[in-house]
Amino acid sequence: EKGGFPSFMEKEIHDQPDAVLQTLLGRSDIHGRLTLDELRVDPELLKNVNKIIVLACGTSAYAGQVAKYAIEHWCRIPTEVELSHEFRYRDPIVDENTLIVSISQSGETMDTLMAVRYAKEQGAKTVSICNTNGSTIPRESDAVLYTHAGPEIAVASTKAFLAQITAAYLLGLYLAQLRGNKFQGEIKDILADLGKIPAKIQHILDNEAQIKELGRSMADAKSVLFLGRHVGFPVAMEGALKLKELAYIHAEGFAAGELKHGPIALIEEGQPVFVVVPSPRGRDSLHSKVVSNIQEVRARGARTIVIAEEGDEAVKAYAEHVFYIPETPTLLAPLLATVPLQIFALALASAKGYDVDQPRNLAKSVTVE
Ligand code: F6R
Repeated sequence: EKGGFPSFMEKEIHDQPDAVLQTLLGRSDIHGRLTLDELRVDPELLKNVNKIIVLACGTSAYAGQVAKYAIEHWCRIPTEVELSHEFRYRDPIVDENTLIVSISQSGETMDTLMAVRYAKEQGAKTVSICNTNGSTIPRESDAVLYTHAGPEIAVASTKAFLAQITAAYLLGLYLAQLRGNKFQGEIKDILADLGKIPAKIQHILDNEAQIKELGRSMADAKSVLFLGRHVGFPVAMEGALKLKELAYIHAEGFAAGELKHGPIALIEEGQPVFVVVPSPRGRDSLHSKVVSNIQEVRARGARTIVIAEEGDEAVKAYAEHVFYIPETPTLLAPLLATVPLQIFALALASAKGYDVDQPRNLAKSVTVE
């Protein structure tokens, strides 16, 4: 049942092209229009939404943080992402025009369930993005958009994460479509680019040997830092979480722009630093700013490991290792850039002899608050 892989986690990493594909299937027509009738929410209600709050924990919350960039960009609806267990305890501002989007692989996470219940009591509309049919959170929500990643057995989430980002993007595009905003013309193109993601993930998986070898070679690392900017920031945090969970070593993700506001003090000779670099074709000057960050940590002795877009030659000067991911629009890059980080954590933890499917102290679904 592990499909010939040594662990469920490795199998599930390799399931990712299909997880994204299945989550996209049947949700748009040949004209490039989203058809999310399965949501069964009155479109008028969705048109009136003036605030979105994404509620989730752990990896699912990082999927929410990625989605925030896309939803705000496409829908122009203010979107917050909040850890479910913090939400109820801060007197949040929620009313009937607030759309709550919960994200949960299991659909049973008690913190998220309690947050959704609380939001419903305040009159909010609730949509659940969930991977488990008939689980509690979707049953208690007004609507559900299932991720079709298939059962996720390994405790550390991998394919569910990519499917959650995909589903949240579909929801964002659907809201943009309903509200008839200026992105109408682009929805079709974005859907076409999403359709190309599974083959691009497969390309990364076909070339995984190099990142696996790096993971094995760093089994003695005491701490690994991850930097990212824009959608690369939650990707960096997810990369760090995978390493904490699986390899039990200190790992932390930072917004690359924060470096000079504190974290750069951590950099000393030999400190491994992953940097998730935005596409050089992207807007603004984000690419060059992140390349400067690589240079800054390298100058202080860091071992720099860079995830960059194919063809990005500028990163080579300061990178000890470069892992290239296929070209894709900036907002879709997390669906690719996450994959090498998962493989790195898997390889490093396996080299240490740890059980990657059942890391110590963790449970697959956390059904207590
Ligand atoms: C990380 C991980 C956890 C879960 C979190 C939420 O690899 O698996 O952080 O993402 O416990 O679980 P769900 O999505 O089931 O609500």
